[in-house]
Amino acid sequence: MQEGPAPAPDVPSRLGQLADLVADGDVVVLSGAGLSTESGIPDYRGETGRRRRAKPMTYQTFIGSAEARRRYWARSYLGWRHIAQARPNAGHRAVAELQRRGLVTGIITQNVDGLHQAAGARDVIELHGGLDRVLCLGCGRRTPRRLLDERLRAANPGWVARVGEINPDGDAVLSDEEIRAFRVVDCADCGGVLKPDVVFFGENVPPARVRDCYALTERAGLLLVLGSSLAVMSGLRFVRHAHRNGIPVAIVNQGATRGDEYALLTLDAPLGPTLTALVAAL
Ligand SMILES: NC(=O)c1ccc[n+]([C@@H]2O[C@H](COP(=O)([O-])OP(=O)(O)OC[C@H]3O[C@@H](n4cnc5c(N)ncnc54)[C@H](O)[C@@H]3O)[C@@H](O)[C@H]2O)c1
Ligand SMILES: [Zn+2]
Repeated sequence: MQEGPAPAPDVPSRLGQLADLVADGDVVVLSGAGLSTESGIPDYRGETGRRRRAKPMTYQTFIGSAEARRRYWARSYLGWRHIAQARPNAGHRAVAELQRRGLVTGIITQNVDGLHQAAGARDVIELHGGLDRVLCLGCGRRTPRRLLDERLRAANPGWVARVGEINPDGDAVLSDEEIRAFRVVDCADCGGVLKPDVVFFGENVPPARVRDCYALTERAGLLLVLGSSLAVMSGLRFVRHAHRNGIPVAIVNQGATRGDEYALLTLDAPLGPTLTALVAAL
């Protein structure tokens, strides 16, 4: 559990306002890395992300060099363990509960950790994909990450490396020597290059997925942002879209976001306790 700053004095009254907005229903949630920090997964731009060392992989680097892919998969081989064993927290459970009650009608997540679904949420749009599956760039087939993990394990007997710091996308820090010793495997069907089924920096979200999110946003009675700095346009565009269409936006996030100017209500508070209190207030 991450320790947040002491809640601002106006938090209780803002929580009451948020409860009123959510009670009207048709809430579309847009979540980010901040919702998963209380599950032990660091974010990018919050407190937990600042302690990160390695830079995130870009699409161009990944595609451009076998060496970069080896580094990615070696780190990810270790880092995925950390992501795969993470459990949903009170915030994910609260969102699933609001969906069960019919108040939340859509969930768009920028997270790739699957924790909304693990908490029981349905029809989650994974804007940036998910780490639990792998895409073959040769034949386009998607396979479970679990199967790749077994193949990597078989290809790397005795490959022992200490897990360093875990990066947000399931990365772990390793020495060059440890990376050189790692063997990557290709698609079992066509021998093509395997990539995690996530949208890297420098890569576009598939247009159909973006359209679905715009459509969902247009039908919303409230767009509720949870734990995202909205620093990248990928998520911010839906906030702007809601604002343009006269749909109220509420943001629960520790620290400022790039969407604050579009929000009817902002609440600077830790998500787990705050969303638990929200559910209790409804
Ligand atoms: N869990 C994941 O799947 C994961 C983790 C890290 C990054 N990513 C990827 O990286 C990108 C990061 O952008 P982003 O906007 O989602 O994250 P971000 O790191 O830019 O912003 C997270 C925000 O959440 C706040 N925060 C952290 N813990 C909180 C808590 N307990 N309660 C309230 N607020 C909290 C931080 O202060 C920060 O402002 C996303 O596109 C995502 O694909 C995913
Ligand atoms: Zn293939």
